[in-house]
Amino acid sequence: MGEMWRLEGLTKSFGPIKAVEDFTCSLEEGRIYGLVGGNGAGKSTLVRLVTGVLKPDRGRILKEGKELVIRSPKDARRYGIAAAYQEFSLVPDLPVINNLLLNIEPTKLGFIDIDRMIYKVAEFMDKLGVNIPLDKLVRELSPSEKQVVEIAKSLILEPQLLFLDEPTNYLSEEQREELFKTMIEIKNNARTTIVFISHRIEEVFRVSDQAIVLRNGRLVDIYDLGKVSMDEVVKAMVGELAEEFRGYKYVPKAAVEAVSGKPVISVRNLSVNDKVKDVSLDVGRGEIVGLAGLLGQGQSEFLRAIYGLLPYEGAISLEGRDVKINSPRDALKHGIVYVSGDTLEGVFLLRSIRENISLILNLWRGLHKPVLSKLEKEHAVKMIKKLNIACRDPDQPVLYLSGGNRQKVYLARGLTVNPKVLLLDDPLKGVDIRAKKEILNIVKELAGDKAVLFFSSDIKELLPIVDRVLVFFEGRIIREFKGEELREDLIMEASIKGTAG
Ligand SMILES: Nc1ncnc2c1ncn2[C@@H]1O[C@H](COP(=O)(O)OP(=O)(O)OP(=O)(O)O)[C@@H](O)[C@H]1O
Ligand SMILES: [Mg+2]
Repeated sequence: MGEMWRLEGLTKSFGPIKAVEDFTCSLEEGRIYGLVGGNGAGKSTLVRLVTGVLKPDRGRILKEGKELVIRSPKDARRYGIAAAYQEFSLVPDLPVINNLLLNIEPTKLGFIDIDRMIYKVAEFMDKLGVNIPLDKLVRELSPSEKQVVEIAKSLILEPQLLFLDEPTNYLSEEQREELFKTMIEIKNNARTTIVFISHRIEEVFRVSDQAIVLRNGRLVDIYDLGKVSMDEVVKAMVGELAEEFRGYKYVPKAAVEAVSGKPVISVRNLSVNDKVKDVSLDVGRGEIVGLAGLLGQGQSEFLRAIYGLLPYEGAISLEGRDVKINSPRDALKHGIVYVSGDTLEGVFLLRSIRENISLILNLWRGLHKPVLSKLEKEHAVKMIKKLNIACRDPDQPVLYLSGGNRQKVYLARGLTVNPKVLLLDDPLKGVDIRAKKEILNIVKELAGDKAVLFFSSDIKELLPIVDRVLVFFEGRIIREFKGEELREDLIMEASIKGTAG
């Protein structure tokens, strides 16, 4: 036992931003370390420093007391270091199999049992219930399939030091469980050291031995998870603001006043290909309706259809008037706004934070009034402050933001307009605990006189703010929960069983 890896004084700045400062820590073999901290704390930067993607300004990396020379990911791999990156490291135009084998140097082919590797990785993907033909192009995969391939790719060389940077963001509850099993298996059998990053603190506690807490690029402390409470770790992450960020607790809202007159939005027999089947629902003024169920049960397709992103059959009416929505432009015109948690496609990386935040606002106003750059700026500044977006100024390109901060910029888009209907498609993955709370508050505020449909892959996010929850299963709504029944265990059970019972 004892120290296997040592990171010593690692430091990295980007211009004036100190992303990682004087980070020192030892890592033992056969252990899982949760690496936690708010958006922009420096977690991904630390991963990139150790895997040779970025060169540290200072500091060194040692293995069994010997300093390593890491100038590229290839060097890192030779020392047994690999990572599944938050922003993925896959080549979109190559098939899955080529991506998996990308890092295996041809010269070594003779010494490596490729068949066995592929077999093991295929077995892993199989466990996660992902049956991707290995010759399919990565660009054709869904975000959750890409996530699985990214993880599989990091596992293929059987690393001794493995970084998993927010690997669960795009995974379903069941897939997460399988990933945890695999992590524990390689920790025990191969004595792998794993550094696991997640914004879901329960997950970190569930699978890690210790938690490494980062704040503003600096190590706060390392905690033995058997000995501390989640509150203590959260406190270390968010600093002096801890009190407000206790775990969410469901506070039943005063029952929504009997919806007077017509619902804001009414959907009848909506179907989308074979993904959504005959779904009907009404949402009243001021109502927040949660959509739950396992990932991929048609929730996203349902919301995307209402926003005009997917063709649908069935009827939609707004405040009693039938409307036909063929495009997001139609939807916006009718006062419907959609935001999703898949930043992978939605953010314009080279455009500024301000431009990204104002995108919907401008489309929206463009339909009614001319765009005001002053207003644009005001909104950007307001949202940067409200959501605590770590950046220098609103005109900085989104490219330089951490993953979670990009996500916040993307969400801010939908929250700066004042729609009739707000559609939220699993918006909070990758967002830190502090911003999550803030966004939930904004949604609650916004809900005042509008209808909100809120899908989340994490029931805990829904419970503090929804009036009721509809569970999707295989494209249909199979159950409704409200009042006393709004409990995580009951909703989870219905989601898995999938029966109306
Ligand atoms: N290439 C870059 N250029 C400029 N700034 C950068 C760059 N990469 C990261 N940063 C900045 O460094 C800081 C740390 O970013 P990092 O991605 O490590 O955060 P993180 O802890 O992974 O956050 P998240 O939880 O949002 O993924 C942030 O302020 C970020 O904006
Ligand atoms: Mg990150």
